[in-house]
Amino acid sequence: MEEFLETCAQVEHTMCRIYRQLADSERDNDRARALWLQMAKDEADHATQLRFARCLPEESFSAADLSQSEVETLLIKAQALLDDLEETSFSSREALKCAISLEEEFMRVHAKTALVFTDEKLKKRFDLLARADEEHIGTLREYFREIWPR
Ligand SMILES: [Fe+2]
Ligand SMILES: [Fe+2]
Repeated sequence: MEEFLETCAQVEHTMCRIYRQLADSERDNDRARALWLQMAKDEADHATQLRFARCLPEESFSAADLSQSEVETLLIKAQALLDDLEETSFSSREALKCAISLEEEFMRVHAKTALVFTDEKLKKRFDLLARADEEHIGTLREYFREIWPR
């Protein structure tokens, strides 16, 4: 369980770094920069929440199948995106699309994870994280539509 929460926290942390990297690449665009920085802040906060949850006693979790492999795959994808962002210059459009699809996957993992908890507080926490991802997706999509209307 601890391993699962730690991997989730690492994904949040990697997302935070992705958004910070995106903020750095938008130095001339105040609005985009503010958007990415807000996202980065949210992800840092999610990572902290998950690291707190790790300290809860084992009985708070049901051993039911937690998607460790799913969350590991997600971590690999997030790290790959971060590496790409650091090495190559992405178009903002491309970066935004990648961020949206990562958020979508993470939202599914959070929502699915919430279902396996016996502990009400943890259930609620994962529900809230899933909702936070949903909000991120909404914000990113809205921004996308505004900048590149069809
Ligand atoms: Fe998050
Ligand atoms: Fe997010």
